[in-house]
Amino acid sequence: MSEILLQIDGKEVTATEGMTILEAAQSAGIFIPTLCHHEKLAPYGACRICTVEVETRGRTNLVAACLYPVEQDLIVSTRSEMVDETRKTLLELALAHAPDSKELRDLAQEYGADEACFENEPSFCILCGLCVRYCAEVKKKNAVAFVDRGARREILFIPEIASRECRSCKECFSLCPTSYVQAAHHLAEALAFPPSSLEPGSEE
Ligand code: FES
Repeated sequence: MSEILLQIDGKEVTATEGMTILEAAQSAGIFIPTLCHHEKLAPYGACRICTVEVETRGRTNLVAACLYPVEQDLIVSTRSEMVDETRKTLLELALAHAPDSKELRDLAQEYGADEACFENEPSFCILCGLCVRYCAEVKKKNAVAFVDRGARREILFIPEIASRECRSCKECFSLCPTSYVQAAHHLAEALAFPPSSLEPGSEE
């Protein structure tokens, strides 16, 4: 793997070919916020909160740090005016869906995002896909999945699988930036696989 030199926030960073900007920044101790990234999962690029500004061959662009591969002599800014403005708008949109998320609220404070900027449409899920992808890619269970499209897209536990697999796992709970996955699981559990149906001999 060849070494690649780039600059992030004015700091010379040595990366290896194939790394993303996010990985290079993390290896240099430079923080870039993420909502849909997980080191065990394939890059997804859904939330765009990791947006950074890159300058290469005299051109400036906004890119998702979790997807964009490092390039020799790339100049990256993780906190330019454009970057902060982009993250602010993304957070305002996300807060309209999940106004009570502590993770979103902390980021909103950092970027001056106004939670009242967009009309609230609480779905409580920002569709980061961490639960769905973790269950599929790491646990290989597919107990939770995306359903529907567009504005109706949501996550749903598959009762036949979830009733078997989730009780002893629940690893996706701590990944969820809005805690919606816990609520979705509790709802599925209550409706489709109540505890008494899971414990042999527990039926009255
Ligand atoms: Fe990069 Fe979500 S963390 S798009």
